[in-house]
Order: sequence, then structure tokens, then C-alpha cells
Amino acid sequence: MELSEDTLEKLQKLAEKYSSTGQDLNSYLEGLLHTEYLTYWDYIHLDTLMTLQTPKTAFPDEQIFIIYHQITELYFRLILSEMEQICLPGKEAGLDEFKMRLRRVSAYFKNLSGSFDVMVNGMDPKQFLKFRMALLPASGFQSAQYRMIELISTGLPLLVHAETRNKFSDSEELEKLYANLYWKFGNIELKSGRKTLTLTMFEDKYDEGLLAMARKYRMDNFREKWLRLSTAEQQDPELVELMKQLDLQANIFWPLSHYKSAVRYLHKDMEDIKATGGTNWQKYLPPRFQRVIFFPEIWTDAEKEEWGKGWVMELFNQQVESYWK
Ligand code: HEM
Repeated sequence: MELSEDTLEKLQKLAEKYSSTGQDLNSYLEGLLHTEYLTYWDYIHLDTLMTLQTPKTAFPDEQIFIIYHQITELYFRLILSEMEQICLPGKEAGLDEFKMRLRRVSAYFKNLSGSFDVMVNGMDPKQFLKFRMALLPASGFQSAQYRMIELISTGLPLLVHAETRNKFSDSEELEKLYANLYWKFGNIELKSGRKTLTLTMFEDKYDEGLLAMARKYRMDNFREKWLRLSTAEQQDPELVELMKQLDLQANIFWPLSHYKSAVRYLHKDMEDIKATGGTNWQKYLPPRFQRVIFFPEIWTDAEKEEWGKGWVMELFNQQVESYWK
């Protein structure tokens, strides 16, 4: 069989590629002769993926709980990957890229809040309350990627606990801001008012890495990058709408969808509350208490005042209805 000109040209280019790093094309071609064809299952590591669900109990619905958490973490990874591409230190992305990446991020969040019904109605409550006890003190609260999405989206002062937020300025020491983040007050024992083991274990494992990330993105988080666009670009109506979508999805719609599951399974009596280890979740999870807003500049004072209430709840209900239509 004769080699076409196109093939010869590719071989020439390959020879140049390999010789530029002192490699020999012939050795690589010989390697190709022995290489197996790539398969779907090897490419996505399917067999490994299917070994990652290891329930702690014999209740069949625990599998749903594990898999849905894993799906969520993979979506979080997708969201972070888009945000990282905008927020690379040293890079100033253009308006089109801002919009394109925000569209993707919003779509991911929309899928997450829209599919949360898998948790709300997709498990047998009796099984849930039993297998959940076998998982203490673990909690989705310990999701580091959830915190990373916050840190890459906005500045630390905006993530400080709502009650003390106005006491800190943008130039405050990073460690001080970090120690006062809203979620540091989020997993507290109802009885003693102390941090739970869930929280302290999370801090031991992730504080150092999260602080490093906060330092890295202090001047390069999404909000800072947006503030460095020209005034005309900053106010581009489509961009502002997409940023509103992200603020709503990340800080209202997902938290509300998630909160519904906590209400469904944990709300009834003290017996049910035990499944969290007895935490302050009822005063913590509803977005109207935390009032986290990544981009306060794009909302009116009235909208911020009503964050998590009134108009927001209407939008949330519309979204839920349209998703399940
Ligand atoms: C039946 C399903 C679920 C219930 C009942 C539930 C319950 C709770 C509760 C009570 C908290 C407050 C902290 C605590 O007391 O432990 C919490 C926090 C949290 N959970 Fe879940 N959860 C569920 C599913 C999920 C899923 C699928 C994820 C996905 C990763 C998740 C991620 C989180 C996150 C990120 C937090 C912290 C939220 C924040 O700081 O605002 N949860 N969850």
C-alpha cells in the first residue's frame, strides 16, 4: 500500500515533533504497532467508577444517596473548571468568554437544582433515617468543592457571616476574614453551641488548602475580574443577566432545593433531627439567613433586602415547575 502525500506530510511533522525533544519517531511508530485500541470503558474508567459506591448499610436506597452526591461533586468539578478558566491569575478574559463560561456554569447549576428531587422524593424516608445514622459524623457540609466555588466566585468579605459582614473591609487580613466565614458558624451542636466534629474534621483537612485558594483568588476571583472590565462591558445587559443567574442558582435555587430535602427527612421530631447529629441546620440552611450574594453590585437594595424571600421564592417556584413540566 502506497502512502499518500497527506500521510507523508504528517509523518514529517511527527518526526519534527519528536526530534525537537531528542526522541526517535521510529521507536514511537513501533510502539503504535503494539498499542491496543482505546475503548469507551477504559477511556472513562468505567470499571473503577462502578467500584466507588460502597454503602455502609444494607438499605438499598443508600446507593441513591451515594451516587447522587457523587454526581453533584462531578458537576461541582465542571463548574470550577469553567470558573478557573476565567479566573486564571494574569489572564483578563474578554466579554464573550465571560458570557460563554457563565452560560455553562448556570446550566450545570440548573441541572443540579432541577434534579434535587432525586433526594427529596427519590428515597424511602424510613430507610433514609436509618442508613443516615450509620454515616455520622459525615455530611455534605464537608464538600470542599462547594466552598471552592464560593471562593473563586467572589471576595472573602462577602462570604463573612451576615451578622458581622459590615464590620470587615476589603483590606482586612485574609486569615481573619477566613475565620469569620459564614459556614464556620454552620455546623454547631444544638445542645452545647460548640463546633461539631463534622466541622472540626473538615477544618483539619481543608483549612490550609482553602486559605491558599482564597489567597490565590483574592484579586482574581470572578467578581474582581468583572470589576476590571470596562464600564460598558461590566454593564452589558446579557452579562449582568448571566451573573444574576449564577447568584440565584448558587445562592438561592440550589440551597433551597437542598433545604427541601432536609425538611422532608429531618423536620419532624427530635428522633429525626438526630440524623444530623443534632445540628443548627434549621437556622443555617435557608438562604434568607446567610444572605450570601456573590455580586452585590448588580442587585438593587430592595432585591438584596428580600434575598431568599418574596420575589426570589416566586422565581424558585417557577423554576421548579418549569423543570418538572
Ligand atoms: C436527603 C438529602 C440531604 C439531606 C437531608 C441533607 C442535609 C443537610 C443538612 C442538615 C445540612 C446542614 C449541615 C449539617 O447539619 O450537617 C447540610 C449541609 C450541606 N449539604 Fe446536605 N443534605 C442532603 C443532600 C445533599 C447532597 C446531595 C449534597 C451534594 C453534595 C449536599 C451538600 C451539602 C452542602 C454543600 C452543605 C453545606 C451547605 C451550606 O454551607 O450552605 N447535601 N445538608
